[in-house]
Amino acid sequence: MTDDPQQLEPSPEFRARARVRSRADYEALHRESLADPETFWSRELAGLLGGWSSVRQGELPDATWFHGATLNVSERCLDRHLTGPARHKAALIWEGEPQDAHGQPETRTLTYLQLHREVVRLAAALTALGVGAGDRVIIYMGMVPEAIVAMLACARLGAVHSVVFGGFAAEALHSRIVDCEARLVITQDGAWRRGSVVPMKPVVDAALALSPGVAKVIVLRRVAAALPVNMTPGRDLWWDDALALAHPSTPSAPAQVDAEHPLFILYTSGSTGKPKGVLHSSAGYLAGAYLSARHVLDLQPDDLLWCTADIGWITGHSYVVYGPLANAATVLIYEGAPNAPDPGRIWQIVERHRVTILYTAPTAIRAFMRWGDAWPAAHELGSLRLLGTVGEPIGPDAWHWYQRTIGGGRCPIVDTWWQTETGSIMLSTLPGAVPARPGRAGLPFFGVDAAVVHPDGRPCAADETGLLVLRRAWPSMLRTIWGNHERFLAGYFAPIAGVYFTGDSARVDADGYVTVLGRVDDVLNVAGHRIGTAEIEAAIGTHPAVAESAAVGRPDDLKGQALVVFVTLKLGHHASPALHDEILAQVAHEVGKFARPDELRFTEALPKTRSGKIMRRFLKEIAAGRETTGDTSTLEDLGVLARLRAAPEE
Ligand code: WT7
Repeated sequence: MTDDPQQLEPSPEFRARARVRSRADYEALHRESLADPETFWSRELAGLLGGWSSVRQGELPDATWFHGATLNVSERCLDRHLTGPARHKAALIWEGEPQDAHGQPETRTLTYLQLHREVVRLAAALTALGVGAGDRVIIYMGMVPEAIVAMLACARLGAVHSVVFGGFAAEALHSRIVDCEARLVITQDGAWRRGSVVPMKPVVDAALALSPGVAKVIVLRRVAAALPVNMTPGRDLWWDDALALAHPSTPSAPAQVDAEHPLFILYTSGSTGKPKGVLHSSAGYLAGAYLSARHVLDLQPDDLLWCTADIGWITGHSYVVYGPLANAATVLIYEGAPNAPDPGRIWQIVERHRVTILYTAPTAIRAFMRWGDAWPAAHELGSLRLLGTVGEPIGPDAWHWYQRTIGGGRCPIVDTWWQTETGSIMLSTLPGAVPARPGRAGLPFFGVDAAVVHPDGRPCAADETGLLVLRRAWPSMLRTIWGNHERFLAGYFAPIAGVYFTGDSARVDADGYVTVLGRVDDVLNVAGHRIGTAEIEAAIGTHPAVAESAAVGRPDDLKGQALVVFVTLKLGHHASPALHDEILAQVAHEVGKFARPDELRFTEALPKTRSGKIMRRFLKEIAAGRETTGDTSTLEDLGVLARLRAAPEE
């Protein structure tokens, strides 16, 4: 990434309203958060959480937080607001994708009181269906208010939700259901996406045919006549019928759980074929989501936050649901694609609802940029006061376009670096306190001790590229990988002694601003989706003609990284355009359409070291160096090329 010496100071008006208003104040608070966490967290979490006997016990990798505190996360996000000014405030404003003949979409608003009522009703239904504290519930839904109701209803019971992104295929859904031993699935018939219906219940049916452990499926009607679905008697219930099961005598008090009680599992890609079930706690996770939403997204009582992430990803968990609701904020959720029916939709939504904070991904910003300035120019975007980005590095071009064309030159931008595993924002600039620098995420958030180090753990000098690590435990860190604590230890703590290894490379400038450069492990970031190369290879390997494959990333203007796969075939099989398409379809079938490789290249052999390791670095160069050959039936002999280059052992 090119160096950009520019920086953007917050305007005096923005600064005047912010909670932290200068670099010196930020530094004092940051120092306190590390040196005196008891004082820091007691003050900052006042009203949200208290009553712990020790703020932290233990150190990395097995620290626990707020020992002795009990809470219910759903109660902290809803019930506690019902006695104050937020009682009749909008919690969720939802807009559906389809529009009527007059261009009007369906919209719904749920106040805190209304959202609370829905959550209590569903929690009672789940209780009637036998769900209790600690049970796992899979939520496989699109962006509808009920998805959030489902998450909060689980939290109300102390049940552990695992939201599976609606783009995942039956195989991927099945493996997650099996891994967490879920007993109940909440889904919907189908979802609206880009003008058509994406089936969801049929995917659940296919997944459950493989995993009979699930006793009940609750199905929300969203698309009704557009997609008739089969209901398995005794197993499947419509959402409304499930609600009717609840006994008037069902206790409706939220379950009070210990601080460390698990809140959710969210599966993410790692460096093996099996996805990792990242487990988050109740109190520590909520503390991180709450405080970062408050300071980084600068939530004020009259804001309308639109975080465009799907609730199937961590960004949706922390900044659509838990962070904003814990702050009694109003969030906008939109069901469909930002460019349906045309690229003006996203800006039309900002204008219609007067969104004040927009939080989205660089890949989306690059797409908006490509669609042209006429689309945002046709809408009144003056309500926006803060812009955020997350998910991948944002290049200076996209950053400046976002700042100028969307922010009207008036809005600060927060570039937020974090991960599924960190639970909440770790690096950013506090928008009213310090200037933003294009392309740099910025400074560590409160409680975060970030550093860039050499592989042996020695700190790098300023501007020197190294590995990004977190040196101290923070409240919202993952507690384990579900059912596999060894993988938790090996993946994050074995690479560099004594610290949490993020998998990213980075550098720090002389003023402490961190630039995150990208993953150094076998995880790709394709259009903001985290994809494990091994997961793709495992999916390709299920095709009967495939002998072996290797997936790598290549830089892509729009997606950040594009997915390129090299495939060798078994004896007797021959490369052909038909086989090419079949293998791509196989990935869509096993993982999901969003993971379909951008390019597939057949090869006689994969380049390997003498010890048999695939030379990925070499494949990356090849993938980056040349555009697709166009002729998908050609075989290249990369093995020969590699031998000619006589590459050293990797
Ligand atoms: C990986 C985590 C947590 C939000 C969504 C992604 C990359 C995330 C940034 C940023 C540069 C970023 C990293 C990280 N990443 N934010 N602001 N600048 N890179 O969560 O799927 O767990 O992926 O996303 O490579 O390790 P995730």
